[in-house]
Amino acid sequence: MMNYSRENLQNVIQWRNVIYFLYLFLVSIHADEHNHVYEINEEVVLWMNTVGPYHNRQETYAYFSLPFCRGKKKTISHHHETLAEALQGVELKFSGIPIGFCRNETSSKICDLILTEEKQKVFMYAVKNHYWYQMYIDGLPIWSILGDVDQKNNLYYIWTHKKFDIGYNGNRIVDINLTSENKVLLELNSQIQFTYEVHWKQSDIKFENRFEKYLDPTFFQHRIHWFSIFNSFMMVIFLVGLVSMILMRTLRKDYARYSKDDDLEDLERDLGDEYGWKQVHGDVFRRPPHSLLFCCMIGTGYQITLVALCVIIFAILGDLYTERGSLLSTTIFVYSITSPVNGYFGSSLYTQMGGKKWIKQMMVSAFFIPVFVCGTAFFINFIAIYYHASRAVPFGTMIAVLCICCFIILPLTMVGTVLGRNLSGQPDYPCRINAVPRPIPEKKWYMDPFVIIMLGGVLPFGSIFIEMFFIFTSFWAYKIYYVYGFMLLVFFILIIVTMCVTIVCTYFLLNAEDYRWQWTSFLSAASTSVYVYLYSIYYFFFKTKMYGLFQTAFYFGYMALFSLVLGIMCGTLGYVGASMFIRKIYGTVKID
Ligand SMILES: *[C@@H]1O[C@H](CO)[C@@H](O)[C@H](O)[C@H]1NC(C)=O
Repeated sequence: MMNYSRENLQNVIQWRNVIYFLYLFLVSIHADEHNHVYEINEEVVLWMNTVGPYHNRQETYAYFSLPFCRGKKKTISHHHETLAEALQGVELKFSGIPIGFCRNETSSKICDLILTEEKQKVFMYAVKNHYWYQMYIDGLPIWSILGDVDQKNNLYYIWTHKKFDIGYNGNRIVDINLTSENKVLLELNSQIQFTYEVHWKQSDIKFENRFEKYLDPTFFQHRIHWFSIFNSFMMVIFLVGLVSMILMRTLRKDYARYSKDDDLEDLERDLGDEYGWKQVHGDVFRRPPHSLLFCCMIGTGYQITLVALCVIIFAILGDLYTERGSLLSTTIFVYSITSPVNGYFGSSLYTQMGGKKWIKQMMVSAFFIPVFVCGTAFFINFIAIYYHASRAVPFGTMIAVLCICCFIILPLTMVGTVLGRNLSGQPDYPCRINAVPRPIPEKKWYMDPFVIIMLGGVLPFGSIFIEMFFIFTSFWAYKIYYVYGFMLLVFFILIIVTMCVTIVCTYFLLNAEDYRWQWTSFLSAASTSVYVYLYSIYYFFFKTKMYGLFQTAFYFGYMALFSLVLGIMCGTLGYVGASMFIRKIYGTVKID
């Protein structure tokens, strides 16, 4: 446990965060660091970010929460951080190490540290747990390990010399290498001197390409990646074939009948002879139970799908990984401005189903995702505060998020709701709904909605799980995810697979004369996320070395959130697919 940095936690209300989010919406996403151009001898700031155990990527603490000493130079105060950075636990503090552009620095002293017993204990704990720290120069991340341990003799060492090799191209910084040297034993009451040196070197790397060395093409562009895409693609072809076969089969008879110009009485008599999906024509458009919640889910699902699509496209176009926190900023921004979509689809469906409590529906729709996100964050926050981790969200940031929810998301959802109710609130069901619900007959166990729901998620999960591995690895380990083109491809495959599988599931359900297809189709697609969560449990135990309460809670908390969001998205896709299918097949048995 680490509790020697109280002052880092005592975050005063940061109104600049509130101002920042206004700025975010006015100027859109913008680099907050200066323009990356330097003059000879101009100050280059070395920002100290965080320190934490290597195996727990998210368990980070402010760099100066370890009792490091600071350099003499104190002119630059705290970095003004963005909302996304605050949420991600970025805590940039000036190192006090003076560096000038193109100014070579021979080995110079930073500061001295007297190792008191308390400091020794802290450093030994950190070295033992493979702590490493992260810094930034001009937006480029630099990592280094804190120390070294001699297990045999139980001796702990700390690296005291930092050697920076900085490559420049014209007046920009394009490459940084850090070498740690000079191991010093952590001995009680000894004086430890920290030193550094800087070497500047002309480099040919282009400024635009300076992030390339952080990417790992052999990891991401692996043959497995292509293989999985190919595999999923085969599945798509198979499923599309299956769905078209079902459609042909169900519709063929009806087309044949229409061509004979039979009148409607005959049609109804014919229906009497048939069994299967046609029997439930008077019930398929019956309002599902908990229709309010259902409509909120569908509205939210539309929004999430749109947000995912937009963020992936922005990431492809903008190389978002080069800017700290910009992916999260973009997501928050896109989520906020797409709120009308949520209101529109949720409320129009709700009105079509004859729902009256539209204000309640709107509120639930607008706050469903924010409540879950904030709830998870709040829960993690408790543990983060207990651990004094840098992930603890400052109070000002919480206020900023609350403001976004109340003053942007809610009004925009309201706009969507009003439009949805008025523009497409009329039900246009092809079949009349019978007054008395039809009893649902006994059926084989494998036609039970629960079984269908659990089976429905298998294929969609199969089509994404390789990509899930890459996404997990880039989030929980130290890989930068940059192959968003692949992600877009997988996203489209997921949409098609989910829709096709759900249509097949719905067809089987209706053939068993069970008309409760709305929730079944939603849940059978959403069960993909159950498998994703199970996979994440496997991933935790077999692919990572995370440990400790904080990291474990963080992992399972945010994985649950991720699965929930994915589930709502898939569920909506499934429902939309099934709904189109049902309108298509029952459209041919008009009885009015
Ligand atoms: C950093 O290290 C890499 C690989 O060792 C080397 O190619 C590059 O030139 C180094 N950059 C600088 C600025 O020293």
